[in-house]
Amino acid sequence: MRKNYVLIPAAGSGSRMGSERPKQYLQLLGKPLIHHTLSVFETHPAIERIFVLLSPDDTYWTTCGSKKVTVLRCGGETRAETVLNGLNAIADSVDEHDWVLVHDAARPCLSRELLDRLLDELANDSVGGLLAVPVADTLKRADKQQRVDRTEPREGLWRAQTPQMFPHGLLRKALQAIGTDAPTDEAQAIEFLGHAPKLVLGDGHNLKVTYPEDLAMAGLILGDMENNND
Ligand code: C5P
Repeated sequence: MRKNYVLIPAAGSGSRMGSERPKQYLQLLGKPLIHHTLSVFETHPAIERIFVLLSPDDTYWTTCGSKKVTVLRCGGETRAETVLNGLNAIADSVDEHDWVLVHDAARPCLSRELLDRLLDELANDSVGGLLAVPVADTLKRADKQQRVDRTEPREGLWRAQTPQMFPHGLLRKALQAIGTDAPTDEAQAIEFLGHAPKLVLGDGHNLKVTYPEDLAMAGLILGDMENNND
């Protein structure tokens, strides 16, 4: 039986947020944002272990008290480097066929329902895949003056979210092959090897906190999720 492991790359500085601390440590409903991110995995029985990947000089991390969580101070210059360092660090304790779910530290509103959908739809897949949502807005290509150069067809375009779920050995090989400067997500590295990751339907609530207004929206979504669980 293949096991499911989670890697949370959390070594970014979150400069677009313009906050005094990295965005994963901003307070959200009374606790650090990253503690919300961890909770859906902590409580899921199919998740074996969670590895939080921090910058070596991170001074903000506080434990969430879960025995499932292990902190690895192996953050790199890019997200891809952080993930590859994490995959290398756990290589001796996992099987190459075990699943690794990579999930952004700053994506705190992943629901149990979406996590179940991802695990179910990919359980027997040979490649793996990711949560994603079809693009809803009309897309404009800008010129250098920030005027519309042209309208891009949105048909067939999806926005990649996380978790992104791939076998440990395949993802490690893919990130080694593509180089850690290039990919902005794990799927891109898998594509580089010639594979086609599966797109599993996510939803807009699974947002990544990037700009200040996203934090307020994440608070509303989490508040709503908590009320529905009561
Ligand atoms: O900056 P962005 O929102 O794209 O970062 C996505 C995730 O990758 C965040 O959880 C961030 O902490 C992480 N990251 C990392 N190491 C880096 C850069 C980003 O772990 N060098």
